[in-house]
Amino acid sequence: MSLLSPEDLPNVRFIDHAPEPADLMADARAGLSERPLELSSKFFYDAVGSELFDAITRLPEYYLTRTEAVIFDARMPEIRAALGPNIQLIEFGAGLGGKTRKLVAALDAPSSVVLIEISTDALRLGATQLAAVHSELEIIAVCADYSQPVELPEPTVAPTRRAVFFPGSTIGNFELASARDFLAGAAALVGAGGQLLIGYDLVKDVDVVEAAYNDAAGVTAEFNINLLRRLQAAGAELDVSAFSHHAPFVTEHSRIEMHLVAKRDTRIQVGDLAVDVSAGERITTEHSHKYTLDGFRALAGAAGWAHQQTWTDAGEQFALSLFAVAE
Ligand code: AVI
Repeated sequence: MSLLSPEDLPNVRFIDHAPEPADLMADARAGLSERPLELSSKFFYDAVGSELFDAITRLPEYYLTRTEAVIFDARMPEIRAALGPNIQLIEFGAGLGGKTRKLVAALDAPSSVVLIEISTDALRLGATQLAAVHSELEIIAVCADYSQPVELPEPTVAPTRRAVFFPGSTIGNFELASARDFLAGAAALVGAGGQLLIGYDLVKDVDVVEAAYNDAAGVTAEFNINLLRRLQAAGAELDVSAFSHHAPFVTEHSRIEMHLVAKRDTRIQVGDLAVDVSAGERITTEHSHKYTLDGFRALAGAAGWAHQQTWTDAGEQFALSLFAVAE
């Protein structure tokens, strides 16, 4: 843990719109009021959840992060040239900031960086570490649920253009219509001349994908079950031990579906809502879509983005694409 905090660093502005426990309870109440039962994946990322996700990214089975890093390392000079000098970089879901630090170090004199992240702890750490290395760079750290529109403050120095950075295939955690809306919002945010650098996971052998979400060490299971612990901490009454992790690939929707499956009949109480969950019943916690290159281009195109360049690894497991706001 860093001993510094964002408040100690003059080049960081920290804006806190972090969701409250009451937001989690209201969201859970809505998701558990109807069948099939649902809990929102955006609530995975408390301090423990962010650490567990970080551990997932280092698992032998979880190829996504590692493969994206291979593409970045091989293509960084091309990415730097394509993004150009003096840009404002806006990253959604910055997490602990490892990818941000790598990209910012490679960019040509960025004018400012905006980090948007739902987990306060991860954002504070990521912003502090970035600011400590780039003491001249203006950093705006916004703790917010970015699945909703986010308003950003004007930077001190006007950039030549804005670029959204959305790595890690987090776009895959949005339903297709929401992904299109989110990407359209990103186009409106950066405006004419703006760009989007986005990482997404590609369709591949089902066994490889399923292994990534059902790892042998059980870290993904812990990550999934931590959502129940978080809900419990927010005030819900439930028996965490009554649920197990299940994550099949559903070909029809080209996505991993993460579920919490009841091992026995059990009850979840959220405020005045009592939900009786039967043995074998599932609560959906996350979808993780896998795309074809053409399918992703069509999705981004429908949101107002014109394709510029795509880079993949040799095995075409993962892709990184650059788009520009369509004229
Ligand atoms: C953050 N997101 C891209 C991850 C994914 O692969 O969909 C979340 C995750 N869920 C289970 N493992 C990782």
